[in-house]
Amino acid sequence: MALSILSILLGSSLVLQASGTPLPTSSRCCHLLNSEFRGGEKVLYPQTSEYGVLNTYFAPTSQQSPSCIFTPSDTSDISRAIKLFTRRSCKFAIRSGGHHYNAGWASINNGILLSLSNLNKVIYNPSSQSVFVGSGNRWRKVYNTVEPYGRTVVGAQNSDVGVGGFLVNGGISFLADQYGWAVDNVREFEIVVADGRVLKANKYENKDLFRALKGGSSNFGVVTGFTLDTVESKLATGAYVEFPASSYDTLINAAYQYCVKGEDPKSQVLFISWLTVKNGAISVKDALSLIYTDIMDVPNPPNALAPFMDKKIPSSLVQILGRNQTMGSHGHDLTQIQHPGIRTIRQTISIIPDAQLLKQFHRILIQTAEQYKYIEGFTTDLLFQPIGKKWIAAGNAKGGNSMGLTEPVIILWVQPHWASAKDDEVIAQFVTKVIMQFEKAAKDAGKLSKFEYLNYAGPKQGLMEGYGAESIRRLQSVKRNYDPKNIFGTLLPGGPKIPGLY
Ligand SMILES: Cc1cc2nc3c(=O)[nH]c(=O)nc-3n(C[C@H](O)[C@H](O)[C@H](O)COP(=O)(O)OP(=O)(O)OC[C@H]3O[C@@H](n4cnc5c(N)ncnc54)[C@H](O)[C@@H]3O)c2cc1C
Ligand SMILES: *[C@@H]1O[C@H](CO)[C@@H](O)[C@H](O)[C@H]1NC(C)=O
Repeated sequence: MALSILSILLGSSLVLQASGTPLPTSSRCCHLLNSEFRGGEKVLYPQTSEYGVLNTYFAPTSQQSPSCIFTPSDTSDISRAIKLFTRRSCKFAIRSGGHHYNAGWASINNGILLSLSNLNKVIYNPSSQSVFVGSGNRWRKVYNTVEPYGRTVVGAQNSDVGVGGFLVNGGISFLADQYGWAVDNVREFEIVVADGRVLKANKYENKDLFRALKGGSSNFGVVTGFTLDTVESKLATGAYVEFPASSYDTLINAAYQYCVKGEDPKSQVLFISWLTVKNGAISVKDALSLIYTDIMDVPNPPNALAPFMDKKIPSSLVQILGRNQTMGSHGHDLTQIQHPGIRTIRQTISIIPDAQLLKQFHRILIQTAEQYKYIEGFTTDLLFQPIGKKWIAAGNAKGGNSMGLTEPVIILWVQPHWASAKDDEVIAQFVTKVIMQFEKAAKDAGKLSKFEYLNYAGPKQGLMEGYGAESIRRLQSVKRNYDPKNIFGTLLPGGPKIPGLY
């Protein structure tokens, strides 16, 4: 009796187990969801094989144990679910492609995993040259749909990556210097907001939300679909170049020049140092991968890329990859070399371009790795690439975004791999130790940028803090309009949050 009065007062009918004790909140939420979608088989429990499939992530480190997985078919299912979550204070996480490395962002313990895998429509509209893409897609299907029309999208480099997370957090494509962040090329978002309304956000309708969503992550609602601009599909050629240790200094000086000049937006270079352990000693390989989105005459490469290909910097290997291929085809090739199923995490930092600092980071990484080389299966990569003027300008030309970058930066990320779950904690300490030293060195040199690219960020970084005060003020005000109770800040525990809200 007392219990039922209490439940009326709380506005929630407690669901009782056979023993008469109330179920834990998350199980109760799953039960309520199951009744709401009675017979629809949309709520999956841990014992089922579908649950196992949808709870598998690119990196096993990002997997958690949701109480159940909800698999909506459309926006109206999501709307009903969000209303229920809000009414009953149910905790949840949103998963699109499950490629983010941070546990607890697209995964959850003791809560509901909202899996968007059934939102998989891709519809090309030849007359507007735009494509509608459901959030649960992988880029492969988008490339495959539009490229036969001579068009492509500003999408992920690796075509297995999910659409939803990649876009709401920015998105770096091979075409970034021509078209900006991938999310700058969204014409319209379709989103379910906290009160269950399904909204469209574009440059006319809900335009404050439109801008906020470009880098606003999961703070405003469940984005269910994107209408994307397509761009002309040009054939691109890629190369991988490795350098001996004796070339390292010259390589970094050339890398610095490449980053500050940003002369040719059709080119993109990713600089990589691979640290592996051989016979108990750290071994370092410095390399780069580059791509040119136009016809490239390999013996006579375009100016911007010549320093890396003309052998003036002695290299040990120049390998031409993917000759005259579409973005989709390069994306497919990457899926053949980036393998799922390996424990890995990332943390990122951004700096104002500086050659000395890049060299110092390299030394810091090698020194710090020394203490961790005994960990089973340990390797670690340090990667960097510039975000140049043309990239930033391309985004501004499309109305701007939330990320707040006004000056060129170099973004760097550290990514270890290892074999066993028992070393997860130690590895997390390793990455944090490296990044903290980078941060100090960058600060001392007066070259630290606060920007942290969300798709490469670790779980406990400053995250949206780095978007800058003006962008944060804007995000806070949009937040008050669309999620005044901060449902996506409280019931959705994972992911980056807008600072200073409560
Ligand atoms: C092999 C590999 C290659 C990669 N290549 C690139 C690359 O070329 N360029 C690049 O920029 N990044 C790249 N990444 C990083 C990638 O962009 C991020 O992991 C990205 O978040 C993946 O998107 P997803 O849909 O799989 O995200 P998920 O892991 O499903 O989600 C990531 C985050 O976004 C939120 N989210 C997801 N969908 C929605 C939605 N619909 N509405 C609101 N919030 C949502 C989630 O809650 C979570 O916080 C790569 C990652 C891997 C593993
Ligand atoms: C790409 O095709 C052009 C001809 O259209 C050719 O000149 C060029 O060498 C090709 N590139 C590569 C890397 O094979």
